[in-house]
Amino acid sequence: MRLLILGGTAWLGSHLVEAALTSGHEVTCLARGTTSDARPGAKLVRADRNLPNAYDEVIGQHFDAVIDVSRQPGHVQGASLALSEFCNTFVFVSSASVYADHERLDQDERAAVLPPLRAQVMESMDQYGHAKVACEQHVLATFGANRTFIVRAGLIGGPGDESDRTGYWPLRFAKAAESGRPVLIPDAPELSTQVIDVRDLAGWIINRACAAEMGIFNATGETKSLEELIETARVVGAHDGAVVRASSAWLLEQGVAPWMGHRSLPLWLPMEDHAGFGARDSSAAVKAGLSRRSLEATLRDTLHWELSRRPAPAVRRAGLSDVDQASLLAALAA
Ligand SMILES: NC(=O)c1ccc[n+]([C@@H]2O[C@H](COP(=O)([O-])OP(=O)(O)OC[C@H]3O[C@@H](n4cnc5c(N)ncnc54)[C@H](OP(=O)(O)O)[C@@H]3O)[C@@H](O)[C@H]2O)c1
Repeated sequence: MRLLILGGTAWLGSHLVEAALTSGHEVTCLARGTTSDARPGAKLVRADRNLPNAYDEVIGQHFDAVIDVSRQPGHVQGASLALSEFCNTFVFVSSASVYADHERLDQDERAAVLPPLRAQVMESMDQYGHAKVACEQHVLATFGANRTFIVRAGLIGGPGDESDRTGYWPLRFAKAAESGRPVLIPDAPELSTQVIDVRDLAGWIINRACAAEMGIFNATGETKSLEELIETARVVGAHDGAVVRASSAWLLEQGVAPWMGHRSLPLWLPMEDHAGFGARDSSAAVKAGLSRRSLEATLRDTLHWELSRRPAPAVRRAGLSDVDQASLLAALAA
């Protein structure tokens, strides 16, 4: 197959390129090339999608599928209009953030989505879900449902996760196994989480890119309790020392951030209106061939990547620093 990947130079994008090349496809990426070059074996067309002539170099060539990872409605609208005549199918990497309700568990693709962003440019991450809805609608309006494959990904994890969310727990336990210090974890047995390995997601998208049956699919990791994920990270980090539990209410009082970011406990989402965020129904994708490696394999490979990162990040994007964890443990003990 001839594939055009709009992006292809960042994290998921480069795994899409690798999966496509491994399957013997011919790959062209279109990006500015500021994030990185395309992987060897793929052709990189340098273009800025903010400019009106962005697709000139690929217009007129035939592609079996175009795959887009953008979050900017203007980019996706421009690409679908420019490429509709030259590409059989449009694969859009969307997000579970398109959904309006994150409270109920086990919702499938029929759940209501947010109103679309009307602007062409998403200005802040607060607009992310709305922007992805607008992107989906632009593709569907131009390519039609029979030529559109929309993948609503849940949290993506695995080696290379520079959001530092999936690496936090195995790395925290591995460091504690060395230092003998305890690890602070949330006491929240009711919470669930889903992590889809970036390699499984990329492989499935490439396999499905030219399938006869298109459609809209949730693509998440298996639903696990957050406790099970943390315990798996503990096994992967070879930790058998002390673990200290703190209630969600206490952690929130201390200003610990849920989910991600500075001074957070990654993947911990204690808000009732987000109870279903880690429990979406991806059974349609599984029936359509999505195969997911074990969580242990994902966390093990992520830890390996974390330990070999050179240079290691001076400040991590998610999690508690050693100092933050120590002061929280001291406050809890007092
Ligand atoms: N991380 C998660 O947990 C999660 C969850 C659900 C869904 N998702 C979705 O998964 C996808 C992740 O994709 P990704 O890892 O490949 O990262 P990304 O950061 O979304 O990639 C953006 C790509 O677009 C290119 N690009 C950006 N601006 C451009 C412009 N003006 N002109 C041309 N190219 C431009 C970038 O390359 P250059 O900078 O070189 O131009 C890069 O290759 C996204 O669709 C995201 O919304 C992520």
